[in-house]
Amino acid sequence: MTQDEMKKAVGWAALSYVQPGTIIGVGTGSTVNCFIDALASIKDQIKAAVSSSEASTERLKALGITVMDLNDVDSFDLYVDGADEINPQMEMIKGGGAALTREKIVAAVARQFVCIVDSGKVVETMGRFPLPVEVIPMSREYVARELKKLGGNPVYRAGVLTDNGNQILDVHGLHISNAKQLESQINNIVGVVTVGLFAHRGADVALVGSPEGVKTVTR
Ligand code: 5RP
Repeated sequence: MTQDEMKKAVGWAALSYVQPGTIIGVGTGSTVNCFIDALASIKDQIKAAVSSSEASTERLKALGITVMDLNDVDSFDLYVDGADEINPQMEMIKGGGAALTREKIVAAVARQFVCIVDSGKVVETMGRFPLPVEVIPMSREYVARELKKLGGNPVYRAGVLTDNGNQILDVHGLHISNAKQLESQINNIVGVVTVGLFAHRGADVALVGSPEGVKTVTR
């Protein structure tokens, strides 16, 4: 299987977690796009979606899936999203597509997080993928100096504005041995909106696409 075929396979595999008549939380990225396409095939059986980005909202609506505002939803069962890295503890780096803040918010409301990835995203120790940090624009250089004190090498993702009008620093050179601690430390820096470490709220299930097929990993 090619990487694209693995993405399609996990996107379709995630459909088995969708319960009829429910609201589905939808992440962002090329793997999630495969899930959205799969979801469209059963759109008449679901109530609506809650989306984590303008890009996913646009794709969902174009395929005829109703998108609800998260503020109008008390709770829902399932959130499906991709990741840039995932470790055996089901902690993830996310935000390669700059949607980390809304992704973390939607994931926080969902009861179950199903992560869909190809096997290239599975790592023992996170940090080879640069860790995205969404920052308030006026705080960018201050936050970058603070991130250097934590041992990282932050690089401004020039030309990118998030859906929330903020900027992204990609932190290179980290070897993340304690993801929960680092998530809290970075979240505590003034000016940080969200760090793309999903450790306190990790995935409950990972559907991993490999050349042999889709493997299901649970906590
Ligand atoms: C977007 C994300 C994505 O889930 C992550 O970047 C993976 O994307 P892709 O499926 O395109 O590899 O966190 O902010």
